[in-house]
Amino acid sequence: MDQTGLATEPTTIVIFGASGDLTRRKLAPALHSLACEDLLPPSCQVIGVARSSLSDDEFHGRLYGGVEEYARLRPGLCERWPGFKGRLSYLAGGYDDPETYRRLAERLTTGNRLYYLATPPVLYPLVIEQLGRAGLAQASCRHDYWTRIIIEKPFGHNLASARLLNQQVHAVLDETEIYRIDHYLGKETVQNILTFRFANAIFEPLWNRNYVDHVQITVAESVMVGRRAGYYDRAGVMRDMFQNHMLQLLTLTAMEPPAVFDANALRDEKVKVLRAVRSATCLVRGQYRGYRSEDGVAPDSQTPTFAALELLVDNWRWHGVPFYLRSGKGMAAKATEIAIHFKRVPHLVFPLPPGERIPSNILSLCIQPDEGVHLRFETKQPGAGIKTRSADMEFHYAQGFGDATLPDAYERLLLDAIQGDASLFARADEIELAWGLTDPILTAWKESNTPPLTRYDVGSWGPIEADNLLARDDRTWFCGCLHDGG
Ligand code: BG6
Repeated sequence: MDQTGLATEPTTIVIFGASGDLTRRKLAPALHSLACEDLLPPSCQVIGVARSSLSDDEFHGRLYGGVEEYARLRPGLCERWPGFKGRLSYLAGGYDDPETYRRLAERLTTGNRLYYLATPPVLYPLVIEQLGRAGLAQASCRHDYWTRIIIEKPFGHNLASARLLNQQVHAVLDETEIYRIDHYLGKETVQNILTFRFANAIFEPLWNRNYVDHVQITVAESVMVGRRAGYYDRAGVMRDMFQNHMLQLLTLTAMEPPAVFDANALRDEKVKVLRAVRSATCLVRGQYRGYRSEDGVAPDSQTPTFAALELLVDNWRWHGVPFYLRSGKGMAAKATEIAIHFKRVPHLVFPLPPGERIPSNILSLCIQPDEGVHLRFETKQPGAGIKTRSADMEFHYAQGFGDATLPDAYERLLLDAIQGDASLFARADEIELAWGLTDPILTAWKESNTPPLTRYDVGSWGPIEADNLLARDDRTWFCGCLHDGG
């Protein structure tokens, strides 16, 4: 480590699945931006492994395209590509072929190793096993360098397969060496949930069943499945968004403050939330109209592209407070938001027309795209008498921190893995508990068609049933980060 705490030892990052989309769109741009800011260890090398036969030059060309298109610090803003390119090399080989790993071992003669599994998930066990057999994944404590592995989502497709994958990876590596990625945790605004809660004294006293009526977590995407239909039709919204991203947002919102900010203390608290979830009920599942005509989707597909869930976190802090979670594709807007809906005032001091109520205060943590925080409160409308109107107090990252784009989630996560900080990665028990919550929902969908699949229009806020079910509890979906409330 240098004086600023950055890792300086020789390190090699080995990306399995290096000819794929993730490497081009996310990993290479993130590594390039880190290199531009001198955040990578000085002699850090990147070896791309994949089946396609590519020369180093062809590999560079591919990654350059990704860096140009997607990197935060693109050529033009940062002139480090020539130096960065010199660190990238390619190794063509089958993932099941021991020869691939023998050739890799020849290149990994010294220094730390960070493996990145960016292959299709079915190949994870194979690559892990081959790394073990080739002696490339031995526990770090036996060496003067470390070995770590980053595993992309999805980590399994149900509880049983996630458990099996955990066993397979534990057979060759220690839990402290395993970094299960959920890119939502790399987002600045997701990390800010903890800063907002635990670096301010004024919100935490209200953050409980005494003051909170309910919590809404929305991850709405306007995009549709696009080119990923083949994968998506097998996964659906529960595996694609809920088991990972949505439950991560839930745990950060509901957890107790850890005594210290370290990986295990933080993850212990998140795990306690998942253990406290008494019931996770799927209220609605929907599919956008036109989904079945997408390329790669079965014409009679029952795969949901939208779901809304109600979860009860049964502990001292949250007893009786529903958490409503919804996520879908093909929706009216891109909006990721955690909205804390506070209880209404207990007694009406001001006269109101019959049937009217004073709206509740809503605190919206705007995760993306317009990152910030909004607080809705009531004000007196100027003029005679007393009429109230809702107003919004807003903080926007773009104004507060200038126009510099926020670092991409992958930049933060790659850097943390190099630094050995697993705080923003999922632990084995966390992953299994999350599957334990989503499995029964998936089973009910499959075995008893409950709730039935309904359709919604692209560009809407999902099936109307989602609104009706909240209305049943005298509540409405609300996105305070969008000016029209969503
Ligand atoms: C991915 C899902 O994990 O997250 C995608 O597989 C989804 O289907 C994406 O579109 C959303 O990520 P973001 O960062 O755009 O909110």
